[in-house]
Amino acid sequence: MEASNSLRVLLLFMLAFLAATTFLSLPLTPCSNSMSRAILTATSLDPYLISCGSGDTAQEEAPLSKDKHSNNNRTARRGGPIVTDQLWCSKPDVPQDAPSPPSRCCPPMSASPPINFTFPDPKEPIRMRRPVHEVGPEYMAKYERVVAMMKALPKSDPRSFYQQGHIHCAYCSGAYRQVGLPTLPVQVHFSWLFFPFHRAYLYYLERIARKLLNDPEFTLPFWSWDIPEGMQIPAEFVNKTSPLYDAFRDPKHQPPNLADLDFNWKVEKNLTGEQQIQCNMWVMYKQIVSGATLPSLFYGQPYRAGDSALPGPGTVELAPHANMHAWIGNGHYPNGEDMGAYYAAGRDPIFYIYHGNIDRIWEMWRDIRLAANGNDRSKTVFSDHSWLDSSFLFYDEEARLVRVTVRDMLDTEKLGYRYSKVAMPWATARPPRTPGVNSKRGVLKSVRFPVSLDAAISVEVMRPDALRSRIAKDDDAPEEVLVVEGIEVQDADFVKLDVYVNAVEYHKVRPGGRELAGSFVSLRHPATEDRVKTTMRVALNELLEDLGVKEETSVTVTIVPVKGKVKIGGLKIVHMSE
Ligand code: C2O
Repeated sequence: MEASNSLRVLLLFMLAFLAATTFLSLPLTPCSNSMSRAILTATSLDPYLISCGSGDTAQEEAPLSKDKHSNNNRTARRGGPIVTDQLWCSKPDVPQDAPSPPSRCCPPMSASPPINFTFPDPKEPIRMRRPVHEVGPEYMAKYERVVAMMKALPKSDPRSFYQQGHIHCAYCSGAYRQVGLPTLPVQVHFSWLFFPFHRAYLYYLERIARKLLNDPEFTLPFWSWDIPEGMQIPAEFVNKTSPLYDAFRDPKHQPPNLADLDFNWKVEKNLTGEQQIQCNMWVMYKQIVSGATLPSLFYGQPYRAGDSALPGPGTVELAPHANMHAWIGNGHYPNGEDMGAYYAAGRDPIFYIYHGNIDRIWEMWRDIRLAANGNDRSKTVFSDHSWLDSSFLFYDEEARLVRVTVRDMLDTEKLGYRYSKVAMPWATARPPRTPGVNSKRGVLKSVRFPVSLDAAISVEVMRPDALRSRIAKDDDAPEEVLVVEGIEVQDADFVKLDVYVNAVEYHKVRPGGRELAGSFVSLRHPATEDRVKTTMRVALNELLEDLGVKEETSVTVTIVPVKGKVKIGGLKIVHMSE
């Protein structure tokens, strides 16, 4: 017994060494590395092994490979859930001009297979996450302290700040690959994985913080940048001696400057405080209330095993989420590091309080939808098992690897927390229309798709079955949705497109105004892989009503390339209900 234990320890050591020196530096498929596999088997760590039968993509329809990590013997299937697996993590795809690129960002290898997620004991009290501007300096000092403690842990500890920051890189820069499909990344942005992934990320960071602080009541404060009281970067983060400070932030955006939820990369709007707040309120209203009336409009598009990444983001992920990443990061660095770049965002301690607010917005959206739909929970989630059973790996406070599914992340109270009630002044900030901005409609030039956008284009888009929308009673009317198809970001650059309806003279519309139906925002991507080819959807019902054009058979859509080179494949309006 003793002997076999020390043999195991020795072999484990060899395995770790081999993993560090060989396998982890190899690109893509672990199946090519028979050495590490042999050792895994010899150490009886073969639960790590996944069948490598047909690792080379495309032909297979049915099971891709067995995921033996999972106790319930899950099998990854094309069209099924996206499964994350440590053996399918390798080099990230980081922009070449990154100032300090990570050569890898996979988490440390776990010595045992992941355990399945379990909910905290329901007898534990539900803890409140509170906004930075309310918790006070003493409480913020705790966050400061725990970030310092995490920064002091050895880099090899999965709970260290170094490794926690890497989690974002691993899931967003092509390091994780889909099990059995080494050409396809696991990408948690621009799809229905966005909200649940980031909730799980914060959940474990918070548990780790509690453990390190030895304070079971600790919760992550959140930065409520959506309300006037919270629109500046919290003071603790700009103090250069604080562990919360990050030099990779835009110096122009320090207090007293207000967040710009409609930020055009590197361009300041120079609005008065009052105007900026108004713009921010309108952005919030449109993205959460009128623009996200269906689950897929809010969460983003379906993304299943075998799918290319980035099928299409939800409203909030584009704006304000991506805008604010760019606003916080420093535009003088090529990719807007830290917050403006996927690979680097988790390095900034502000990321976690920033995303606390995104997680809270998920709750507010759900409450708004429940109120609008007679408390019908089915209108606030997808029932598709490919979503519910998609899974991620995180290390918990005891440094145990845990497999978490989307299904586990749908109820914060079951996860042991809720958000304190903060006012939502934007919930009623329905923007007024701008008169006289569409008089040049008669002289539209014809546009042939696909088109590279060098300048704004205005296109007349037919509405489907306008009669049906007109006579349908409000509550059973389908949502009319503008689909911008085949968006291709051409040189992987930062991109912002503004989409206006019935505003050929769009420059007359105030920032965030009614005719601005939505913005497409994409942070900079590395040019080699994981290219941005995606779609965007914009809900139109309320907008058409406010513009007084519900009876018309077509609308004018104006697309303004604010930043970056982009091609779009086409525009259409469809009816959607979910
Ligand atoms: Cu994973 Cu705010 O991004």
